[in-house]
Amino acid sequence: MNKKKLKDGLYMLSMNVDDMLFESMWELPHGVSMNSYLVKGEKTAIIDGVIGWDGVPETLYKELGDIDVDPKNIAYLIVNHLEPDHSGWIDNFKKVNDDFTVVTTAKGEPILKAFYGDDLKIMVVGEGDTLDLGNGKVLSFHPTPNVHWPETMLTYEQCTKALFSCDMYGAFGTVSDRCFYDELSKEEQAVIEEETIRYYSNVLTTFSPMVKRSIAKTKELDVEMILTGHGPAYRGDINQIIAQYESYANYANGFGKNEVAILYGSMYGTTEKVVHIVKDLVEEKGLKVHMLHMPYTSESEMVAKVFSSAGVIVAASTYEYKMFPPVAHAIDELGRKKITGKESMFFGSYGWNSGAQKDFTTILDTYRMKWNIDHTLEFEGIAKEVQISEIKEAVNDLLKRMKEKVL
Ligand SMILES: Cc1cc2nc3c(=O)[nH]c(=O)nc-3n(C[C@H](O)[C@H](O)[C@H](O)COP(=O)(O)O)c2cc1C
Ligand SMILES: [Fe+2]
Ligand SMILES: [Fe+2]
Repeated sequence: MNKKKLKDGLYMLSMNVDDMLFESMWELPHGVSMNSYLVKGEKTAIIDGVIGWDGVPETLYKELGDIDVDPKNIAYLIVNHLEPDHSGWIDNFKKVNDDFTVVTTAKGEPILKAFYGDDLKIMVVGEGDTLDLGNGKVLSFHPTPNVHWPETMLTYEQCTKALFSCDMYGAFGTVSDRCFYDELSKEEQAVIEEETIRYYSNVLTTFSPMVKRSIAKTKELDVEMILTGHGPAYRGDINQIIAQYESYANYANGFGKNEVAILYGSMYGTTEKVVHIVKDLVEEKGLKVHMLHMPYTSESEMVAKVFSSAGVIVAASTYEYKMFPPVAHAIDELGRKKITGKESMFFGSYGWNSGAQKDFTTILDTYRMKWNIDHTLEFEGIAKEVQISEIKEAVNDLLKRMKEKVL
């Protein structure tokens, strides 16, 4: 666990994890951090705690001891978000402290009781409510429902102008002693930028309308530091991470980078041959291509790259009257994530009676994804020259259409 003094009476404690799947499904090649913050006035509050895994709360108590904080003297647990990655330690904390208050929103109260029992002392807060910790440290609370779960809120500390944002403005990637983004090297920043997109697309994209509301609320406050629950903290030019999140909320509605994702699957390489022709064509036009070969590409990467690309080419053969399942499954996942409005096209091979394209449009309709599929081309067996030409024309048209969606 890393521990760092950010300001007088303000500490960051973060725990890095890299040997699990986030939400038990998203890979973590660069790990993830779970950040907690300690605010010391006359009274002490801890904001965004830790997961309840064996040994983790105990490690937190030991770290607190090093900064002269006895867990018994923590008066408030500020729970911006009740997901167990931030609140799981409450059960353990009850054993070491018998007099603390948990601060949550009205929507959080029943969730808190459901997970951690009816015996907790709870302080329910609404928009603008404050908690004076003494010595100039005053917290204010700003509910932002459904920036993941219904009870989520932002907490702001007036004296340090710090915004505690929990999942909002978060990223995958571990945190070192250099916990602020501006302390990272250019290479590390580039990794974090990719990891922010992957985190947003995997964890938050379904909630993009609420993310926009949370951004608006951030702008109403005089913020000098954004202290996240996952990934680096931000200070100085905090507008950069806000602008990134603004873009991502729009990627969820079909906007994206000037890049093309090719989402494909092929059993014997028949469709894949055409995929490579298409890849070369897009690259000749100077655009970056992401090859998302299902099921070999991870679901996490697939979601991230489709999400962040303004153009999406889907290619899959027919399998038992429907779309090749790994690609159908990917489209289904994108639908669950509400990734809508993408400029797209489709092609694929079949043996005797096609079914992939129909299956594709059925999935798009099921999730009301509103992808703009102007061209669909299915070919029997190996694609003929004339069919390859048609597919190339469709790609050129896609590249024109997607220009309006580039952010
Ligand atoms: C397990 C399996 C199921 C298939 N089901 C169908 C089908 O229902 N309808 C059809 O027209 N072709 C079907 N085919 C034929 C493939 O769609 C055809 O061989 C196609 O060229 C495969 O392209 P690919 O190598 O890109 O996967 C099936 C092939 C396999 C191996
Ligand atoms: Fe969460
Ligand atoms: Fe989280």
